[in-house]
Amino acid sequence: MGVFYCSGNQHLLYYIIMNKYLLLLLAFFIATCSNNNKEPVIKEIEFVPEMLGLTPGSTIAEVNFAWYSDRAGNSFVRITKNGTIVSTEKGTSGAASEGKYFHKATAKNLKPNTEYAYSVSNDSINWSAEYKYKTPQTKTFKFAAIGDPQIKIGEQDIESNWFSPDKSVALGWKTTVERITAANVDFILSTGDQVDSGSNEEEYEKLFAPSELKSIPMAPSVGNHDRHQIFQYHFNLPNEQNFPEENYGNYFYLYNNILFVALNTSAYVESTEDAKPYIEYFDATLSAADAMYSGKYKWLIVQHHKSTRSVAWHSAEKDIQYYMDAGFEKLMEKYKVDFVLAGHDHVYARINLGGIYYITLNTASGIKYYGANEPLPANTYAQQNRIPGYTIFEVNGNNISVSVYEVDKDVPIDKFEVEK
Ligand SMILES: [Fe+2]
Ligand SMILES: [Fe+2]
Repeated sequence: MGVFYCSGNQHLLYYIIMNKYLLLLLAFFIATCSNNNKEPVIKEIEFVPEMLGLTPGSTIAEVNFAWYSDRAGNSFVRITKNGTIVSTEKGTSGAASEGKYFHKATAKNLKPNTEYAYSVSNDSINWSAEYKYKTPQTKTFKFAAIGDPQIKIGEQDIESNWFSPDKSVALGWKTTVERITAANVDFILSTGDQVDSGSNEEEYEKLFAPSELKSIPMAPSVGNHDRHQIFQYHFNLPNEQNFPEENYGNYFYLYNNILFVALNTSAYVESTEDAKPYIEYFDATLSAADAMYSGKYKWLIVQHHKSTRSVAWHSAEKDIQYYMDAGFEKLMEKYKVDFVLAGHDHVYARINLGGIYYITLNTASGIKYYGANEPLPANTYAQQNRIPGYTIFEVNGNNISVSVYEVDKDVPIDKFEVEK
């Protein structure tokens, strides 16, 4: 190569130009080879987050994400709209259970009634698949309230009147999530006992398994079965309050015209005196929520686990009486709460006391059912048909319509409206 007849100036010029190109070509090959030896070209591979779950953000302009991975790293969430990246946010990460790492991040500045997509990443190079997330409208929206999915690796209550395809608790939960999704809700509120043992990651795998939960946020309450650190790894809670001891999971979020406050009543207090510090934490949480969103909400909803107005056997337990004696319901009156949503007793019950609706929810998976004690307290409506259930709240400004369903039928077992 590069051998030319040299007969005159034209040929000499041609020879010089051609050799220049050859030198450039040689330089390119050397550069490429040396780069291959030193720095391999980074190739994007799809990142697969484990147990990815969403929680409402502090307002509808935000959404919180949490997932697991088996590699230490950062946490990123990337939001796109019509295929264009609109934001990338960095979050936090740390060691979770058995060689796993938790990751948390928050998407911000979202506009209402808008279809977005999101991906998550541990390194901002390798991203997960994209999942849809649609923000709610501001005037009307829907949420589902559920209680005690209490995911267990095993079968539903043997006395059930409805069974999932393989009789498992996990598929009972999956069916409920499918029914809720068909009702077109914006988020799910859970009154606690998300899992049964609290320390078994397999239960959390089944909890987050329904694919719909990658697009619908779920706001959990801490139940007595959730009293394990794993709970804190799996949920990215908005406005979480810091209290001593184990009283995590007190938090709040403004969802359009409703202020939601989650309180942790999972502890087994042993006396009224024992319950008093918890009442102080709840008071402080309600006070902080009101201070932050004062004048911005029309309705106030408290979600917690151990119902104070239930009708089955848990309602007679002493710890609940201690919370009551220490002032739990007085606190609901002080802050003029509209709805107090709870679970723990795996039965549906509703009572209105002084303008406050106390609602106890049946299990959302069918793990077990407790029968209502007869006679029912005055003005209480209750149902126990041994079928998993969910409740749909339709919010339209000054009006909230509540419909309570069982998974196997379209006609509600209870329905009422509240106007304000
Ligand atoms: Fe439970
Ligand atoms: Fe419970």
